Amino acid sequence: MKPPYMPLAIAALAAGAIAAPSMYSNASGAACIPQHDPNPKQRAAGVSARSVGFIYGPSLIGEAAPFPNGTLGNARSRSDYNTWSIDRKKIDSLIANDTQAMGVSIQLNGGLKTWQDYEKVLYDGQLKNSNPRGVTPGMIANATQDLLFSMERLSEHPYAVRRVMANEALPFPLGNNLTAKIVGENATLESLRDSSRLFIVDHSYQKDYKLATVVERYPVACSAYFYIDSKSGDFLPLAIRTNVDMDLTYTPLDSANDWLLAKMMFNANDMFHAQMLHLVISHDVTESVHQAALHTLSENHPIMVILERLMLQGYSSRIVGEELCFNPGGHWDQLMVYSQFSCRDFVTDRWPIDGRFQGGYLENDLKARGLIDEKGESLFRSFPFYEDAKEIRDIYKAFFTTFINSYYGTENDLSGDFEIRNWFVEANTKAKGHDFPKEEQLTKDSLIDVLSHFAFATSVSHHSTNGGAPISSGTLPFHIPAIYTPIPKEKGVTDLMPYLPDAATAVHYLGFMASFNRPFYGDSGRALEDVFVTADSMTRLNSETNSAAKDFLTGMHNLSEKIRGRQFNNDGLSQGMPFIYRTLDPAYIPFFCAV
Ligand SMILES: [Fe+2]
Repeated sequence: MKPPYMPLAIAALAAGAIAAPSMYSNASGAACIPQHDPNPKQRAAGVSARSVGFIYGPSLIGEAAPFPNGTLGNARSRSDYNTWSIDRKKIDSLIANDTQAMGVSIQLNGGLKTWQDYEKVLYDGQLKNSNPRGVTPGMIANATQDLLFSMERLSEHPYAVRRVMANEALPFPLGNNLTAKIVGENATLESLRDSSRLFIVDHSYQKDYKLATVVERYPVACSAYFYIDSKSGDFLPLAIRTNVDMDLTYTPLDSANDWLLAKMMFNANDMFHAQMLHLVISHDVTESVHQAALHTLSENHPIMVILERLMLQGYSSRIVGEELCFNPGGHWDQLMVYSQFSCRDFVTDRWPIDGRFQGGYLENDLKARGLIDEKGESLFRSFPFYEDAKEIRDIYKAFFTTFINSYYGTENDLSGDFEIRNWFVEANTKAKGHDFPKEEQLTKDSLIDVLSHFAFATSVSHHSTNGGAPISSGTLPFHIPAIYTPIPKEKGVTDLMPYLPDAATAVHYLGFMASFNRPFYGDSGRALEDVFVTADSMTRLNSETNSAAKDFLTGMHNLSEKIRGRQFNNDGLSQGMPFIYRTLDPAYIPFFCAV
């Protein structure tokens, strides 16, 4: 099934919102830049009508990107929501079957009484409908390994970790003797920092967040050190500080239970971070820039054709979030570590920082966090997220290079495109974007970068954090979404069971995580590799672009084959990790922010 292409004006008309639209300004529907449009007056009238019909309304879920309202804006979001609802019904019915079966298994087992019960009863033969490809291989069996915990920072949860820079004060203390005992070689935090081998994930900001009251949970706001071992080259955990209550600092030298609990507490904070960050770096970033385009580009502009494809059902997600996730007492309040109000605070706080457009470019982001060097070389023996994310970005960039060169023979052609210049101005002003290139920075190269990052944000940024990732890799019992019993005041915990969600909460949590998954998109032409080949709107673009779309499909499919071919080696490792990274499979993840 090909997803329908519905121009905005038609979508609005279908929703009964407006009078007859001013459609394409040339009869064939072929897209063109404004200088080449045979009907410039009609085109300009269409742009004006849209600019009036879309209004920058208040942000949803925290103070970030505006949300469209006005006649056209409301029609658009209603249409997007209706499109989203079709898949929602489908995944909900799959989840209902799965959670019912899971409930029966739990009952037959007499409840969830041991760590192994969580591993087996919740997963063996479960989630067959809503997550048919199963959980990340190795993620459950090797959950207690330190290498799994640390390498998640470089694969499944790549956005929170950064290097402690040479000129920076140490984020928290750790005794020299203790550090040397863990790391060897008489290492200290200072020596690790000064040799570019000390890293931090700092979730201490979460200590200011509020708990929801619908279910009793307990706060924690962990920060964690990681380091590169000089002998093995492994990236390993060094210490975890809770930052609340007795403010204990745990290390791998603690008892197995104490250290495992510390990593689990960290996981609750990290899950909060990943899920809330996904709103900022994918939804807010793209909605802001796309709304600027809605106000400035004709529907007949080739770049608008591309943006519309990438923004398929894009204005459903934040409404869904308000209705079903972050509503008072909703899924988030029932399941996650901090309340819906804290979610909104996070988005508001992080929008000016993590919502920066150029700052979010893959290499810019990783350089700023000290994870790659000036040449783009990774500091790590293995950096699985970067490897796949870079390949996807590069394939997109090759496509957009051909696309832009095919429509703009020269830089003068581009500077003569007043719609694009207006778009750049609008993104930096009324659309409230952060760090979008300025009009004077507009070149073919900067435009290619803009489009590459936009497409990256709806694919890599979204699906590395949300989509099918949490149900696959955020497995219980290691990855707990919240803390269900008061955290220890001293070390020596003997029983981890009270820290796990009870059976009903566990089933609810897995159902909620599965609701972001779209396992049926690969078969319906909506996976990343399909973005152009299944788009009816590609007939409106020129032959060079359509030819580049074929290369795009080949490149993405080859990457998918590579990812699907990953196996454990004789040491039980894949890319230096005790689990297999397949989160960015282009034949699985959608090309758009599906939910
Ligand atoms: Fe999302």
